[in-house]
Amino acid sequence: MSKDAYSLAKDAAAALKGAAGVDTFDVALVMGSGWVPAADALGESLAEVPFTDLPGFAPPSVAGHGGKIRVVRTAAGRNALVLLGRTHLYEGRPVEQVVHGVRTVAAAGVRTIVLTNAAGGLRPETQNVGEPVLISDHLNLTGANPLTGTTFLDLTEVYSKRLRALVREIDPSLAEGVYVAFRGPTYETPAEIRMLRTLGGDLIGMSTVLEAIAAREAGLEVLGISLVTNPGAGLVGEPLNHEEVLEVGRSTAARMGVLLGKAVDRL
Ligand code: 6GU
Repeated sequence: MSKDAYSLAKDAAAALKGAAGVDTFDVALVMGSGWVPAADALGESLAEVPFTDLPGFAPPSVAGHGGKIRVVRTAAGRNALVLLGRTHLYEGRPVEQVVHGVRTVAAAGVRTIVLTNAAGGLRPETQNVGEPVLISDHLNLTGANPLTGTTFLDLTEVYSKRLRALVREIDPSLAEGVYVAFRGPTYETPAEIRMLRTLGGDLIGMSTVLEAIAAREAGLEVLGISLVTNPGAGLVGEPLNHEEVLEVGRSTAARMGVLLGKAVDRL
């Protein structure tokens, strides 16, 4: 990573602390699409700062409206930075912008980050739509890497065993799986989905892996959770009911917010 990316993240962290009126944070959470109810259930919102007020964040893409960082106080009084919205490669953004939020919260002093996403399920025989799955490892098939041009980094345990165990103590029903990232924006073909099953993937999406790498480089402990919104292409005969998927997602995400609040309070 260039010196520029580090100092830009430092600048963003300073601007964030100033705008939020809060100085110390225990944890950060990146909320993927479908996860906003989790942010609401996590705790009391103390402040919200739009990405556009902070240096280095990508401008809002045409598709969505701009994201923001919410400062949340959990039940036990921990301060969490919740990133509502993220930047993706498929928007045509460079990898530095994709991971800028992670580097910013690291510069703001968090030691732990929770990365959430909405993902396709590669194992419909054991996965239900609407089900959260703890990410145990990943396949980075994006062709990008936030450390390009810098250094080597060990990735033996990207997704913390300790954090997964802690969350499963609170909810033993949670499954684990390997998350695969493609850059998108197209979904996969049925042949690609068959390939990913053969390669050992359990979940497919277009985010998270680059953030996880940047987080590990910054020395953060990482917890990853996917919400399965649909099976991968060609795995089930029936077309999906999008409304049903959204509704399952909404109720599951709220439950996850309560769970994550408990986890944050036990970190
Ligand atoms: Cl099936 N593929 C990808 N790449 N991302 C997804 C998905 C599938 N379902 C939700 N997000």
